[in-house]
Amino acid sequence: RRDLLMLGIETSCDDTAAAVVRGDGEILSQVVSSQSDLLVRYGGVAPKMAEEAHALVIDQVVQKALDDAKLSGSDLSAVAVTVGPGLSLCLRVGVHKARQVAKSFGLPIVGVHHMEAHALVSRLVNKDLDFPFLALLISGGHNLLVLAHSLGQYVQLGTTIDDAIGEAYDKTARWLGLDMRKGGGPALEELALDGDPDSIKFRVPMRQHKDCNFSYAGLKTQVRLAIESKNLSADDIPISSASEEDRQSRANIAASFQRVAVLHLEERCQRAVEWALKIEPSIKYFVVSGGVASNKYIRTRLNQVAENNGLQLVSPTPSLCTDNGVMIAWTGIEHFIAGRFEDPPAADEPDDTQ
Ligand code: KG4
Ligand code: ZN
Repeated sequence: RRDLLMLGIETSCDDTAAAVVRGDGEILSQVVSSQSDLLVRYGGVAPKMAEEAHALVIDQVVQKALDDAKLSGSDLSAVAVTVGPGLSLCLRVGVHKARQVAKSFGLPIVGVHHMEAHALVSRLVNKDLDFPFLALLISGGHNLLVLAHSLGQYVQLGTTIDDAIGEAYDKTARWLGLDMRKGGGPALEELALDGDPDSIKFRVPMRQHKDCNFSYAGLKTQVRLAIESKNLSADDIPISSASEEDRQSRANIAASFQRVAVLHLEERCQRAVEWALKIEPSIKYFVVSGGVASNKYIRTRLNQVAENNGLQLVSPTPSLCTDNGVMIAWTGIEHFIAGRFEDPPAADEPDDTQ
């Protein structure tokens, strides 16, 4: 396994990332180039602009991943690349680069599912983590509860019926006039520390539905109404120029939002644990991953859910929770070892083949 060297490439959303990981899980390099400036300016990911931003840096990012690992393309065993889900224009940039590297050095290619990678990177972090396990995957675009039976065999226990929790964090942060350069989620988490989580009684979503699905659109609307009713006009006045009283109101909204957003996660996770243990009583681990899982408050609360049910929480470090190349390389390794990969592209394949 130590001889296996996998390059991982990720371009599904707004980060261009690459990494080299060894078969035994040793991370040899990890490079991320983020489009946070574009996100701040345009208030979200515009596919065409994101594609151009990826295309601009992909060669450098991959080269740096190889340089940092002190390797050349010919040392690699294979190339793993995110093939979905994500913005198709953006995915194409990564796939194109992966095929180019694979063709140059005659390497097999492993196509990776982005959400599977968020889940499986936990097995790199914790070598004892065997299947089956339960995973909550929370990011900007997804909210998934998955029972992972074995490699490639996943049963979805719950998903979002509208927005993902990361989207709710990002919108709330924007409406509260926070500094989006840090990312909406981290900025909101920080502000919430100064607020009273019980000051506003937002309704917990979907309590009447006894399932494991999620919904964050209604909570977003409740937050919007709370902001309007307080006349905060935070859209115009950034928090840095707000009065002390105004800042406190915003912190209260942030803390109240976070409490209910996470209570919703806790309730759904508790039910999912019960369901999962009925199907697979041998489950020992509860994995929480995806960008939103970097949130300390969320980790603490979900650790409690795990402990209450006799499970161990595994949540990767923040740099492995947010989009990264390591999780793609690692998932590539798992599939490669299981014999799931494509042969190297033919030498006469045109370079623009997707
Ligand atoms: O997994 P990820 O990097 O990209 C997607 O696949 O979407 O997740 C990005 C999401 C964003 O919505 C971001 O605001 C959120 O993760 N996020 C956080 C925190 N750090 C990142 N949300 C809450 N608290 C955080 N500390
Ligand atoms: Zn992601």
